[in-house]
Amino acid sequence: MRDNAGIAKTSLLHTDREMDNVAINWDEIKVDVPEKNYDKLASPVGTLVMITTVDREGRINGASFATCFRNNHIPTCYEFSVDMHKDTAANVLATGEFTVNIPPFDRSVLEKVCILGLPFAPGVNELEKAGLTAIPSRVVKPPRIAECGSHFECRVEWTKQWLETRLTVVGRVVAASVNRDCIDSEGYVIHDKLRPAHYCGHAYNTKDGAAKFVAAYEVMEVPMVYTGPEAKMMTAVGAPPPKRG
Ligand SMILES: Cc1cc2nc3c(=O)[nH]c(=O)nc-3n(C[C@H](O)[C@H](O)[C@H](O)COP(=O)(O)O)c2cc1C
Repeated sequence: MRDNAGIAKTSLLHTDREMDNVAINWDEIKVDVPEKNYDKLASPVGTLVMITTVDREGRINGASFATCFRNNHIPTCYEFSVDMHKDTAANVLATGEFTVNIPPFDRSVLEKVCILGLPFAPGVNELEKAGLTAIPSRVVKPPRIAECGSHFECRVEWTKQWLETRLTVVGRVVAASVNRDCIDSEGYVIHDKLRPAHYCGHAYNTKDGAAKFVAAYEVMEVPMVYTGPEAKMMTAVGAPPPKRG
């Protein structure tokens, strides 16, 4: 069941899959992450995302972004850039809110990611066009996308218009959630469960418009092999930087 804004009601928790007679309780699947673990959840630091916003009337907008990343540890903040004439820019400037959703490296979801890159008219709900499921966010109005593994609800810290038509947006995470099976008991991401992706870039699209993606969840632990004094100057996340000179 959906409300007027097209959001799946968590109270009844029925979604598109209702048609298959399968009711999904998203609160059983998605777990809230405490603020102390926002930074751990933002891993890898930058991957393909789908960003949701709403306009002044509360109409949902969804758009895909390859270039969105966590740009500060504490407070945890996300940054992305978008053309000024895009709905995402207009909505962020109008409402000061956005939600970053991390899609999995899954063909059926990546097909929908590509649909969210199309230039739909303002006010069109791209999530409905793509067959994605909007579920309410915890704090902000832009919804979470159920098919994504993790979600960062953001309030705008600052924006900057540059190159005439480009808008860079930085938002502070005010709530975060994740599929229960994608984090461990200490709040660390289980990367091969979350299965984030990267976009190869527009230059790699085929002539008939197929996009290419790279899986972003092969993890390698790399020790510090440099033994000079600088190696001992590494500080804990969030600690003030070491004094110079
Ligand atoms: C896979 C993919 C990645 C994209 N990455 C970016 C990006 O990093 N920056 C950007 O400005 N647009 C990017 N786009 C294009 C936007 O999604 C597109 O301009 C979209 O129409 C914006 O929607 P809106 O008008 O609803 O905001 C990407 C599109 C796709 C399909």
